[in-house]
Order: sequence, then structure tokens, then C-alpha cells
Amino acid sequence: MKFFIDTADVKEIRDAADMGLIDGVTTNPSLVAKTGRKYVDVVREICELVDGPISAEVLSTDYEGMMREALEWRDVHANVVVKLPLTPDGLKATRACSKQGIATNVTLCFSANQALLAAKAGATYISPFIGRLDDISEDGMDLISKVVTIYRNYDFDTEVLVASVRHPVHVLQAALIGADVCTIPFKVIDQLAKHPLTDAGLAKFVEDARKIPR
Ligand code: E4P
Repeated sequence: MKFFIDTADVKEIRDAADMGLIDGVTTNPSLVAKTGRKYVDVVREICELVDGPISAEVLSTDYEGMMREALEWRDVHANVVVKLPLTPDGLKATRACSKQGIATNVTLCFSANQALLAAKAGATYISPFIGRLDDISEDGMDLISKVVTIYRNYDFDTEVLVASVRHPVHVLQAALIGADVCTIPFKVIDQLAKHPLTDAGLAKFVEDARKIPR
């Protein structure tokens, strides 16, 4: 499973990339707004830090505006993936981008039928938001299972990108299902490596190592 980091904070991206585990980055308008910087400046900097797919979202909600922005994002860097909302206009833009060879990440997916439409439109990635479904007492991971099954049934090339990840169990479940990508907040990436028995075991090894004659 590929690991993307879900943030627009370049310090977090730098730290995670230093671990050598980051395959790509996803951003969204809410994450970029927190930085107080221009979207394009943030994306340009991220492209220097990570050599992999970098999702940058369109801000327009109509087809013409989305296509104008998609072409602008395409020219920013070869690794930019244009993030489009799962709306009728967004699907139309996904189809048009696919025809022009522009990579897309269809975002705000909350149902398996929506994911089926995105694949038929030629999306490069589909982003089902699992945490937000869990928040309203639905089973986000069940959606991932269904989408993975549907895409396998029909051999779709669209990759399943698990989004709105809130904790390490989401990452584990995504990997067990066989999702292609999981986009993970920095805090959760940090949690993945931690285990109290690892810390206790290491402390004991360090203590015992002092007793070894040199
Ligand atoms: C994905 O690309 C989105 O940026 C993100 O995962 C949304 O997560 P949230 O529900 O925590 O805002």
C-alpha cells in the first residue's frame, strides 16, 4: 500500500519524507487555508520535497472553471494530480482530463456508486472519505471494501485512495482490504511506528548493553 501524507504543512511533509516512507501528498482547500499561504506556492514547495503524486484541488465548482484550473495545475509540475469533486460537473471534468492525459483524484466520495462513476469517468484515484462516514455512524471501511471489490470485478485502473484517515486502525484495515493508497495525517504516521513494548524493550536493551564488557 502506498503512503501519501494528508497535509499542506511543509514542515510535516519534510519530516515524514525524511523517514523515506512517503510516496505522495494530498492537499485540500481547508488544509491550505491553515497555512496562510497561496495554494500554488505551497504545491510548488511540496513538489520540491516529494517526488511522487501531489494532489492539488480545484476551487471552482462549475465544469468550465474546473477545467481552467486543471490546466493551470497541470502546468505547475509534472507530478501534480488535479483533485476534482465528485459532482456531475466534477465527473465531466474528470472525463475531459482523462482524455487529455491529466491525472485526477476524485474527492469527496461517500458511496460505492459514486466511486463506480469516477472509475467510468477515467479517474486516476478515487478518494472515499472514511473518517467522515464514521463520524455520522456509518462504516467508512465498509465503503472501501465495496469499492475495491467493484474495481476488481471490472478491472478498473482507478486506484483506491483511502482518505479522511483518523487513526492507525484505519491504516491497518485499509491494508488488509488491499487498498492501493492510504493518505494519512502526520500525527497518525507518527503513531504507526509506536508501541509501548518497543519502548520498554529498547530501554531494557540499552540498560543491559551497559553491562556488556567492552
Ligand atoms: C483527502 O484527500 C482529504 O484531504 C482528507 O483526507 C480529508 O480528511 P478530513 O475528513 O480529516 O478533513
